[in-house]
Amino acid sequence: MADGKARTVADIMSRPVVTVASTETIAETAARMGAKRVGSVVVIDGGKPIGIFTERDLVRVAASGADTYNDRITDWMTPNPDSVAPDEEVAQAFAALSEHGYRHIPVVEGDELAGIVSMRDLMRIAAIQPAETLAHEVPRGLEGVVVAETEIGDVRGLEGFYHYRQYDAVDLAEQRTLEDVWYLLYEGELPTLAEREQFTAEVQPLREIPTDVAAVLPDIARLGGGAGPLDLLRTTVSLLAASLDFEPSLDVTAGELRLQALRVCAVTPTLVMTLYRSQQGREPIAPNPELPYAANYLYMLTGEVPDPEHARAVEQYMISTIDHGFNASTFTARVITSTGADLGSAVVGAIGALSGPLHGGAPSRALDMLDQIGTTDKAEPWLRDAVERGDRLMGFGHRVYKTDDPRSVMLRSVAERLGGENVEFAKEVERQAVEVLAELKPGRKLYTNVEFYAGIVMDAAGLPRALFTPTFASSRTIGWTAHILEQAADNRLIRPSAQYVGPPPPHPLPELV
Ligand code: ACO
Repeated sequence: MADGKARTVADIMSRPVVTVASTETIAETAARMGAKRVGSVVVIDGGKPIGIFTERDLVRVAASGADTYNDRITDWMTPNPDSVAPDEEVAQAFAALSEHGYRHIPVVEGDELAGIVSMRDLMRIAAIQPAETLAHEVPRGLEGVVVAETEIGDVRGLEGFYHYRQYDAVDLAEQRTLEDVWYLLYEGELPTLAEREQFTAEVQPLREIPTDVAAVLPDIARLGGGAGPLDLLRTTVSLLAASLDFEPSLDVTAGELRLQALRVCAVTPTLVMTLYRSQQGREPIAPNPELPYAANYLYMLTGEVPDPEHARAVEQYMISTIDHGFNASTFTARVITSTGADLGSAVVGAIGALSGPLHGGAPSRALDMLDQIGTTDKAEPWLRDAVERGDRLMGFGHRVYKTDDPRSVMLRSVAERLGGENVEFAKEVERQAVEVLAELKPGRKLYTNVEFYAGIVMDAAGLPRALFTPTFASSRTIGWTAHILEQAADNRLIRPSAQYVGPPPPHPLPELV
């Protein structure tokens, strides 16, 4: 390739080609394929290729119970297969044939069979051809690109609907406990009462921080003056995975990986609260085994059993944020898992992705924005200025939703239930912001996302702003780990390509002056 010449099919085809005559039987053909160790043969008649017969056809023959000693190959071959010319460039041949699902393509010159080429070889060589011969138009930010299959859930942006497994996620947040939804994501079904009890008994003890990790948390909490609890959580999950000897996911059984996942999900809230309290110079509060996940979360903040209204509001927020399609952090977790790396690495990477303000770092900023606006009469000019300056209104806009985010709708009603002075103010700012965005960003369909009312709900339930994104991280850990388990169960390395757009290589190296 250094001479810049593209390779042709003739360079990589195999020859001589294993052929069978059109008069031969299937049994004779199968024997030839076995003896020559090839996956396909070309059927010829008078020297000219008239068909192709592959291993896949052999499977069809076997399944049909055909009379292989008498049936002719012409009855089972694919007649007049697509062919390729020997002087065709590899990348072009691959691009033209890749959609047909063929494994082998006869190479034909004039009427004569010249060789055979496997699609795998074409693809291998095409992948190192100059990018322009291969480039697929992939939208920036991978918008709308399907990168995997999942049974965990999905988001339907135009309808304003999302679901976990087969259930509406908002119904789950309104009617079920967090433990039920956690079980649903892991097991594929909602638990019965007995299963709920058993699951709760399984995860409750896993909330405790291992002693060696607990011993170093005060030191971690003292690290860096400006580090927030989410930064400290990221560091600590890494430490936890090392302390618990998490092996590469490639080397552990599905059962072990599930146990690791449960452990990380159960202990994350304890880590968040311990780190937060340590940063405040306060003693950590041990988890309360009598309380369910969300109530225990609030309990570990203050040491008091929380108001059930507050606990339920936080639980609903947490349920609503457990999973949400192939968002950036979930994708990150799956990419890391696809390398066979350990579950801790995948969760650490996902926390990093979530920390960005364009993803999970927005709820405290949304509340900061409300503080800066101050009063409803200042809202319109403030919002207008911000958008005209090119700033983004935090808690508005979404990659997938082009209508109301159902999480935002649900959290708005949770916020109304909790009450408080901020709620009516937030609703008015929302109304004005949607108007300003429609006017200044027409056609972009910008509405509130989950983050706008998340801050209001968490604030009203007594959670400080520094804990907003860590709270999101705690519930999303359940979603991440469900995806990690799914990825590991049917893994293929996720390794896309980029289009190189820099100066054309190879450029001569400059003299060192
Ligand atoms: N305020 C003002 N304008 C916005 C906003 C916003 N919140 N969101 C999008 N726009 C505008 C953009 O400026 C752009 O305008 P242009 O066409 O004139 O350039 C247009 O809408 C499209 O924006 P993109 O950046 O292409 O949209 P994308 O799908 O990449 O971004 C995102 C989605 C990141 C959520 C964006 O809406 C945003 O930055 N929102 C604010 C931050 C936020 O609330 N993050 C939390 C997201 S929810 C979650 O992850 C859990």
